[in-house]
Amino acid sequence: MAYRLFEGKEHAASYVKFRTSPSNELVQRLIDFVEKQEGKPLGVAVDVGCGSGQGTVLLAKHFASVLGTDVSAAQIDMAMTHAAAPNITYRQSPAEQLPCEDASVDLLSAMSAFHWFDRPRFLREAHRVLRPRGCLALLNYVMDMELHRPDCGPDALNQVCKEFYEALRPYRSPHLSGHSIDLYREAFQALPYPDKEWNECVRVRKPMPLSSYVGMVESFSSFQALLRKNPQEAEELSSNITQRLMSVMKVTSPDTEVVVEVKYFYLLACKPAED
Ligand SMILES: C[S@@+](CC[C@H](N)C(=O)[O-])C[C@H]1O[C@@H](n2cnc3c(N)ncnc32)[C@H](O)[C@@H]1O
Repeated sequence: MAYRLFEGKEHAASYVKFRTSPSNELVQRLIDFVEKQEGKPLGVAVDVGCGSGQGTVLLAKHFASVLGTDVSAAQIDMAMTHAAAPNITYRQSPAEQLPCEDASVDLLSAMSAFHWFDRPRFLREAHRVLRPRGCLALLNYVMDMELHRPDCGPDALNQVCKEFYEALRPYRSPHLSGHSIDLYREAFQALPYPDKEWNECVRVRKPMPLSSYVGMVESFSSFQALLRKNPQEAEELSSNITQRLMSVMKVTSPDTEVVVEVKYFYLLACKPAED
């Protein structure tokens, strides 16, 4: 069964504002993998569960055309407004039933989205739409992002961050059971494609205001679940965490810059030339 959690306009707007995108270096790893299998030039990429299109735009300069799909109309509206390019189109569509011809796609990606899909149905759909030697790229990051600041030991900051994540853990969707990395690892092991690659940790560091780090955590489904259940508790939690982080940093403004370290993991796999 697929889960639909990101459909509200406000949630989609918080995506545009706060969600991190993979680094160019990380996207280059996907591109290198696809080029190794298929050679150049690259034709069609489809970014499934594209949200507001942060990852979709990064694909646009490598492919002749890119299609971003998402089950949420609100997310597709955001993507069309904030992540447009001449060779990108966006379509509202479930991941399990893509608007693509059989054997027509060179790269099928899902960035921070595969864990929400009906995974067996999506993987069958991926197999249908991928060309022979077309590639599948599934990536995500672990929730436990770390903060860094030059004049501040990381332990004190990250102890506060850990408390933030722990407070949200009970609100994780049951669809995800434990850690999402386990779902991806299982999918990697089960994929019957001989050419495949698994990377458990690629660290991507991004400078941003402390308030944007907090906004990013607030955009997570677990925070949104707490917000729906008890708005006051949710607001108190993020305000308390912000105050404590500022106190550790010895600053008074939530606009103070921090470096957020995001730990990505990914699965890359190439559909065999012959079934
Ligand atoms: C965590 S967001 C990731 C968005 C974007 N790819 C990114 O990297 O920020 C997950 C997205 O998957 C979409 N989604 C969830 N289930 C889906 C499904 N079954 N079919 C298509 N999209 C789905 C949600 O609407 C949401 O936009």
